[in-house]
Amino acid sequence: MLPTSDLTIKKKPPKPLSPNTTKALLQSLQSYYTSARTRSCLVLSVLLFQFFLLLSVLSSSLRRQPTLPISSSSCSSGTVYVYDLPPMFNSDLINDCDSLNPWNSRCDALSNSGFGRRLRPSWYATDQFAAELIFHRRILHHRCRTSDPSSASAFYIPFYAGLAVGKYLWSSNHTSRDRDFHCEKLLRWVSHQEPYRRSDGWDHFIMLGRITWDFRRSRSGNSDWGSSFLYMPGMSNVTRLLIERNPWDPLDVGVPYPTGIGIRSLDRLHWQAHILSKRRSTLFAFAGATRSTIKNDFRGVLLQQCEAAEGRCRAVDCGGRRCTKSGAAAAVELFLDSEFCLQPRGDSFTRRSMFDCMIAGAVPVFFWRRTAYTQYEWFLPGEGESWSVFIDRREVKNGTGSVREVLEGLGEERVRKMRERVVELLPRLVYAEPEMGLGGVGDAFDVAVEGVLKRFRRRRLQRQEEEGKEEEEAAEEG
Ligand SMILES: *[C@@H]1O[C@H](CO)[C@@H](O)[C@H](O)[C@H]1NC(C)=O
Ligand SMILES: *[C@@H]1O[C@H](CO)[C@@H](O)[C@H](O)[C@H]1NC(C)=O
Ligand SMILES: *[C@@H]1O[C@H](CO)[C@@H](O)[C@H](O)[C@H]1NC(C)=O
Repeated sequence: MLPTSDLTIKKKPPKPLSPNTTKALLQSLQSYYTSARTRSCLVLSVLLFQFFLLLSVLSSSLRRQPTLPISSSSCSSGTVYVYDLPPMFNSDLINDCDSLNPWNSRCDALSNSGFGRRLRPSWYATDQFAAELIFHRRILHHRCRTSDPSSASAFYIPFYAGLAVGKYLWSSNHTSRDRDFHCEKLLRWVSHQEPYRRSDGWDHFIMLGRITWDFRRSRSGNSDWGSSFLYMPGMSNVTRLLIERNPWDPLDVGVPYPTGIGIRSLDRLHWQAHILSKRRSTLFAFAGATRSTIKNDFRGVLLQQCEAAEGRCRAVDCGGRRCTKSGAAAAVELFLDSEFCLQPRGDSFTRRSMFDCMIAGAVPVFFWRRTAYTQYEWFLPGEGESWSVFIDRREVKNGTGSVREVLEGLGEERVRKMRERVVELLPRLVYAEPEMGLGGVGDAFDVAVEGVLKRFRRRRLQRQEEEGKEEEEAAEEG
C-alpha cells in the first residue's frame, strides 16, 4: 500500500485495493476527499466527474508509448548473465556498512536491499546512492537472466563501485590508490573471464551508484577527486548506468536516482490517480539549501524570489542533509502540494530532488539543460516542454526574469497537460519494490535493462552486417 503524505489522508489510510482497480480507484479517491471535508453530494459529483476524466487519461496513458509493456514470455532483445563476483566487490562492502563513510554508519541506509529504513508502508528513507544494490537484487530476478554464459547476450558486473570508492572520498588520510584499489582488482578479475575476452567488454554493463565525476579522476594526485575507474583501459568498452552521466560519453547512460517510494503494481494506479487529482495550494516550491560559500549563489536568488512570491511559493531548507535523512519525505510532501518545483543545479548538474518532484506529480522547472534533458533520454521524452519548464537563468540572475510570472503565464490547460505527462511517465522514474518489478509495465530498472539489451543487439547486428560485407568483398576479390 502506498500511503500518501497528505495530513488528512494519514489519519485515514485508503482501504486495501481489490483487484478491481477501477472500483478501487473510485474508493480511494472518495476516501481522500471525504476525509478532507464533509461528505456532500456536490463533492461526490465533482469527484465522480474528475474520476472519469482521470480514468480516461490513465487508460490512454497506459496505451501510450512511455509505459514499457512487458511481455512475459519472449526475451527478444537478449538474455543477461550476472557474474558471481568474489565477495570483496559487493557483499563484503555491505557487511562493512559501518565504515563506508567517515561520519556515520550506512547500515540503515543500505538495508532492505537498498531501499533503506521503512518510514511507512512502501515509503523508505532511501539513500540516493543505493542504486547498485537495487539493480543487483532486481537483475538476479530478471526474467531474461540466464545461468549459461555461452548463450547470454549481455553480462552484468555486480560490483558496488560507488560504495567501494565512496568510502575513500572524504578523508584526507586516503590516497588516490585507495580509491582505485577495488576498481583495479575488479578489472583484473573481469579481464580473465572468457565472455569479456571474447567481446573486449562490449556486451558488458555495470551500475555505478554515484555521479560519473566520482569515477573520472584524470591525474594521480591524492588531492584530486574520485577514482579513475572510468579512465582505466578495462572500462573503455563497458556500458555504465549512472545517476548522472557525462553527456559527451555515449557509454554513460543516465538512470533515475532512487527515491523513497518503493512502488507496487496496484499502488501505482492508486498513486497516479492521487497525484493527478490532488489539489495543490502552492504554485512553486524549492527544496534545497543555499550554498553559502558560493558568491552570487543562484539558489539564493531563487529563495529570494520564493520569499517575494507572497505565499505562492514555499521552500524547505535542506541544509544539514535534513531532506536526505528523512528519506526526502519532507520534500515529497512539499511537492505534493505544489504545481511546480524549482530544480537549479546543485553540487553537480543533476539532483535527486527532480525525481522526488515528479513522483509527487509536480512539474519540474529547470535552469540548466544538463539537469535532465541530456541525462535521462531513455526515461524522459525528447520534447522537454511537454513535461517541464525551462527558464533562462541569466534573466533570473539579472532580475529581468521572474519565475512566478513565467509560471503564472503558462495557463491552466497547458499546466494540466504537463502534469498528465509527468503522471504518465511516473512508472519509468521509480524503482519497484517487488523483486520481480511492477508486472505488466516497466519501472526504471526495466527500462534501463531493456535499453542496454537493445543497444547490445543493435551492435551485434551491425557487426554481423560488417562481417558479411567483409566476406562479400573478400569473395569478390578472390
Ligand atoms: C587521519 O590520520 C590521523 C593519524 O593517523 C588520525 O589521527 C586522524 O583521526 C585521521 N583522520 C581521519 C579523518 O580518519
Ligand atoms: C575495446 O574495443 C576495441 C574494439 O573492439 C578493442 O580494440 C579494444 O582492445 C577494446 N578495449 C579493451 C580494454 O578490451
Ligand atoms: C538580462 O539577461 C538576458 C539574458 O542574457 C539579456 O537578454 C538581457 O539583456 C539582460 N538584461 C539586463 C537588463 O541586463
